[in-house]
Amino acid sequence: MSTTSRRGLFLTFEGLDGSGKTTQMRLLARRLREAGGEVVELAEPGTTEIGKKIRSILLDPSHERMSPVAEMLLYFAARAQTVDEILRPALERGATVLSDRWTDSTRAYQGYGRGLELEWIDELDRIACRGIEPGLTVLVEIGVGEGLRRARTRNADEAAAETRMDEQDRAFYERVAQGYRTLAGLYRRIAAVDGSGSVEEVGERVWRAVEEFRRRHV
Ligand code: TYD
Repeated sequence: MSTTSRRGLFLTFEGLDGSGKTTQMRLLARRLREAGGEVVELAEPGTTEIGKKIRSILLDPSHERMSPVAEMLLYFAARAQTVDEILRPALERGATVLSDRWTDSTRAYQGYGRGLELEWIDELDRIACRGIEPGLTVLVEIGVGEGLRRARTRNADEAAAETRMDEQDRAFYERVAQGYRTLAGLYRRIAAVDGSGSVEEVGERVWRAVEEFRRRHV
């Protein structure tokens, strides 16, 4: 069952670490709330209490030997919990649900980045998400160098910095960025938005992508 046969709308945000997607999602949530209607925000992994515990295992810097398959399964474990606890009920109520990262992150990071089979990821998505797919995915694009610079500045500022992924080498992020571009070519639901410029400028581009999606689907 896809979002179209449900009452609510599921929109996801994707991009490299430091792309500004989190800020943009909050802006969009505020704009949609002002327009009326229920808006639910998710942040994967770590939306639910169980997800937060899984997230702390995933991003613990001392776990650098974690098997890529274990990593992939943990991201899906967190997502399955979010689907049952929050996403499904919210869509059934008719809410608009926004998620900061979803399965495209697993495709980009674990698939293209770490070289795991994309078919495994598709299969796990079917199991964990039970056919719920985003109607629209906003991909916030920035250069790899710029993203790493922003992510590092932010981590230096945060007391409990979660740096395991941020410390991966640049080549990994190049593969992730290329992976996202490939995904944008494969899936029509993905709208790539230029992430350069001010928060307001990027916000306008995101808004235009959402309006365009609504014109096509409402
Ligand atoms: P996130 O909390 O979104 O961090 P940021 O705000 O820096 O983007 O995600 C944390 C890290 O988890 C990020 O480096 C991407 C990674 N990740 C995956 O590798 N696979 C996944 O499926 C998800 C959801 C995230």
